[in-house]
Amino acid sequence: MTGQSSMEDDTAQMGAVETREDTAQLVRVSSTRGDPGGAVATLKLAEVTKTYGMGDVQVHALRGVDLVVDEGEYIAIMGQSGSGKSTLMHILGCLDSPTTGTYYLEGRDVSQLDELELAKIRNRRIGFVFQQFHLLPRISAWRNVELPLVYAGVRPRSARRERAIEALASVGLADRVEHRPNELSGGQQQRVAIARALVSDPAIILADEPTGNLASDQADETLAIFEAMHDQGRTVVLITHEPDVGERARRMVRIRDGKVIADEPTARGTSR
Ligand SMILES: Nc1ncnc2c1ncn2[C@@H]1O[C@H](COP(=O)(O)OP(=O)(O)OP(=O)(O)O)[C@@H](O)[C@H]1O
Ligand SMILES: [Mg+2]
Repeated sequence: MTGQSSMEDDTAQMGAVETREDTAQLVRVSSTRGDPGGAVATLKLAEVTKTYGMGDVQVHALRGVDLVVDEGEYIAIMGQSGSGKSTLMHILGCLDSPTTGTYYLEGRDVSQLDELELAKIRNRRIGFVFQQFHLLPRISAWRNVELPLVYAGVRPRSARRERAIEALASVGLADRVEHRPNELSGGQQQRVAIARALVSDPAIILADEPTGNLASDQADETLAIFEAMHDQGRTVVLITHEPDVGERARRMVRIRDGKVIADEPTARGTSR
């Protein structure tokens, strides 16, 4: 009798313990998975056009683009020179606004925001990587990387330095923090630029031909970092000319003459 009741107690207790562990497990999973910036990162373009030069000579760079990118996706955008890839990235990154159509960033219509509001969103949510690394030549790697934190008003300086060094370490440059750009290889310079994109922990990473100026081994290192950013749950949009670079993404969007002409999973995207 007593034995049975104590067994029941044990079972009940084990059950309780299991439940607690399950809950703990769930908490652990949800706290490490995805969403580094806090909110859901979804990009949605609806019938977006961009026309440059509103005078006599007009260039229709985008002619009605519909595109939805969900949180945590890794997509490549491919297309010939002049097809509108960079224009598309400038709009996705709130560097420019559509001429017509709507852009929803994380559910918010940002199509017609003014420059100041766009800058705030960029600073908080988006990290950029460009083909030309756009590093300031006269200052050290860590001071290049701290710049977004300076603009965001992060203080004191020691906190910015710590975060900059952490970001540099995450791209394998812990031993180069005091080097200036001209004291680094091309691949290392691009990794400094990636650290700068990552230092504010953005949910979205936009990269325009990030391997365009790199030798193939340096390009591989760079792409491995993009892979890691994707694994961390960030949304990654990568523009490239090179098919083998595009194949590293999970989904490929092709544009021609300012329109999306194909949108399919890559081999990696279907294999999961
Ligand atoms: N600021 C601008 N003013 C006028 N026309 C522009 C401007 N920026 C881009 N264009 C034109 O818009 C079209 C699309 O340009 P975009 O830079 O988006 O192409 P892209 O696909 O990025 O090309 P690339 O692969 O060469 O970088 C091109 O015809 C380009 O000449
Ligand atoms: Mg371009």
